[in-house]
Amino acid sequence: MKLKGKTAVVTGSGRGLGKAIALKLASMGANIVLNDIAASDSIDATAEEFRAAGYNVAITKGDVRNEDDVKHMVKTAVETFGSLDILVNNAGITRDKPMAMMAEEDWDLVLDINLKGAFFCTKNAAKAMIKQKYGKIVNIASVAGTMGNRGQANYSASKAGLIGLTKTTAKEFASRNIHCNAIAPGTIRSKMTDVLPDDVKEKYVSNIPLGRFGTAEEVANVVGFLCSSDSDYVTGQVIHIDGGLDM
Ligand SMILES: NC(=O)c1ccc[n+]([C@@H]2O[C@H](COP(=O)([O-])OP(=O)(O)OC[C@H]3O[C@@H](n4cnc5c(N)ncnc54)[C@H](O)[C@@H]3O)[C@@H](O)[C@H]2O)c1
Repeated sequence: MKLKGKTAVVTGSGRGLGKAIALKLASMGANIVLNDIAASDSIDATAEEFRAAGYNVAITKGDVRNEDDVKHMVKTAVETFGSLDILVNNAGITRDKPMAMMAEEDWDLVLDINLKGAFFCTKNAAKAMIKQKYGKIVNIASVAGTMGNRGQANYSASKAGLIGLTKTTAKEFASRNIHCNAIAPGTIRSKMTDVLPDDVKEKYVSNIPLGRFGTAEEVANVVGFLCSSDSDYVTGQVIHIDGGLDM
């Protein structure tokens, strides 16, 4: 119960990696604020699962691109549980296309959600964390941000930007005892990757030294470490969870 008494906001946590991360943090004792877009078909059921497991949970439906929604999310954490100690910037999307065919809207949408959303959440969560002189922020980047990836100009740029945001956040807030790190997952089994054609999946696996996709739980375990005092001398880092893909 290394996170007992701490409160964690996980964006985009209605399903997928965000849900697995929120479950991990809850199992470590944290109070959880789930967030997802209002149109999410899963956040209410996810919250029910948490309650059934006996975890403390609150919901904020809102879009990370909208700073008023983000302020509401931070307020919900502080008013419901008394503090906001952990922020996981997980909400993210892809809109893959060869660059020559990528429309301006595809670029803007991905950058707005994956990068501007993380900026709004970090800025507003940090205000609460500064008052407490404590905070752990984990940004969910991607190997696409460290290696680049064909067909993902928008996505890889957003994740590379998120890594820059991570390092700046770590430097700006280190003196306030706020840590900020990123993780760079490789290919993880999820709704985002389930839709890939079989031949594409096989090609991806052939490049991974450990010879398989990762699981959401394997990602969540590393996030749990970065949110706990076990990582108190770690900040500004990018931890790869990719079966050795990028080394
Ligand atoms: N799955 C992978 O292999 C993989 C690999 C590397 C990085 N990632 C990153 O992990 C994160 C989660 O990915 P996933 O595979 O679980 O995807 P997913 O699509 O299953 O889940 C993403 C969640 O974010 C929510 N969301 C989307 N836009 C939002 C917004 N504007 N505001 C709030 N919530 C929003 C969605 O509704 C959804 O619930 C993403 O940032 C993704 O880039 C995933």
